[in-house]
Amino acid sequence: TAAMNIKINKDESLPAAQRTKLAKVINFIGKRVLVHGWIHRLRLQKGKAFIVLRDGTEYIQVLLSGDLAEAYQTSTLTLESTIAVYGTVEKLPEGKTAPQGVELVADYYEIVGLAPSGDEAFTNKVQENADPSLLLDQRHLTLRGETLSSVMKVRASLLRSIRRVYDELSITEVTPPCMVQTQVEGGSTLFSLNYYGQDAYLTQSSQLYLETCLPALGDVYCIQESFRAEKSHTRRHLSEYTHIEAELSFLTFDDLLTHIETVIVKTIQYVLEDPISGPLVRQLHPEFVAPKLPFRRMEYIHALEWLNENGIKNEDGEEFKFGDDIAEAAERKMVDTLNVPILLTRFPVEIKSFYMKKCADDPRVTESVDVLMPTVGEITGGSMRIESLDELVAGFKREGINPEAYYWFIDQRKYGTSPHGGYGLGTERILAWLCKRFTVRDCSLYPRFTGRCRP
Ligand code: 4AD
Repeated sequence: TAAMNIKINKDESLPAAQRTKLAKVINFIGKRVLVHGWIHRLRLQKGKAFIVLRDGTEYIQVLLSGDLAEAYQTSTLTLESTIAVYGTVEKLPEGKTAPQGVELVADYYEIVGLAPSGDEAFTNKVQENADPSLLLDQRHLTLRGETLSSVMKVRASLLRSIRRVYDELSITEVTPPCMVQTQVEGGSTLFSLNYYGQDAYLTQSSQLYLETCLPALGDVYCIQESFRAEKSHTRRHLSEYTHIEAELSFLTFDDLLTHIETVIVKTIQYVLEDPISGPLVRQLHPEFVAPKLPFRRMEYIHALEWLNENGIKNEDGEEFKFGDDIAEAAERKMVDTLNVPILLTRFPVEIKSFYMKKCADDPRVTESVDVLMPTVGEITGGSMRIESLDELVAGFKREGINPEAYYWFIDQRKYGTSPHGGYGLGTERILAWLCKRFTVRDCSLYPRFTGRCRP
């Protein structure tokens, strides 16, 4: 056809185009710009083509008309092709909608990389209702979707916000090692590795290292990957997750609880105030209610009473009794019913880790806390730590751990012990709660869980 022969040319008599990212085009209304991006949506009609362009910062509608719409190269365009567009930014007329309320009226464009059509077309690779495992194989492509990319932007904002909160509290960031020779949360979930012929593991938690930093740097935090060889497939367990951990000294258990709830509330406040992540959270989770201080405090023993009164059974299908673990389903039923954040405290010694300090008024329980949020349950675990050297060594014995590899951790008690405590926040769990995702897998860039280590 005639259209096939139309070639397009750049008009060099037009004013010079300012190069800009899509998030900044609204600063150029009435001006000529040059933008680059991926074709997110495409609608070709007679005499016009509407392209929604994406560059990761924003979306914008591009209008091709006249020769630009009729040109052969326009008929070859496919989703996810990259283009460079020259044009004028115009406010959309009343009653029309497009991203950012503007339209880029193109006067010229070039194809940078044409994506395939036919069998290899993007839409054939990433089908919305496809099997989750097929979608995970195509994670590098599904990431380009609006939902996943929005969650990743909220994630970036969450990490930025919590760093800001720690900075305001004068807590220093450190980077502990990921390759270690000690366990923190039980041997059954350790990933081992051959370290130049020695046994080593991928870290489960940086807690022990943070404790050793207290005398040198004061209160510290880290944002580091933790690794757990979790055997079970659940919607809130990953094999690798981003662990936000902090450790504070010379404080009481009650101070620790207040600190934890304050950090969570402030961080969420900053995420919601942010001009990018605030609107994204409201879009992903319209009914999200920001948590308020103070959180409801509940002792483990009273949680058991609540569960029994409400007919919720333990893992053996019986009434809860002291010493039982409150498993995921029961925990979530409780927090979903109460529908407020809960600081669940004072867990029994035998279901918690070797390093936890016992309560002075009841040595059967520990100064420990889990923060529970509606819809996901536990997002944070923390405690005060054993201060006494002898008691710590006894803790190792009880757990059948050889204390030799922990000499450096034990020294923390030997060379000037102090009351101290800390906690770990699961980044993906906070995001699942904040962005209303069914599973933490939707909150990780490339999720790792039982059987999945690619792409
Ligand atoms: O309760 P956990 O195991 O506590 C610790 O590791 C402590 N040493 C932290 C500390 O006191 N410094 O883990 C802390 C948090 C959990 O509340 C949860 O949010 C997250 O880490 N988490 C996981 N997230 C995703 N996948 C997993 N397999 C997780 N295991 C724990």
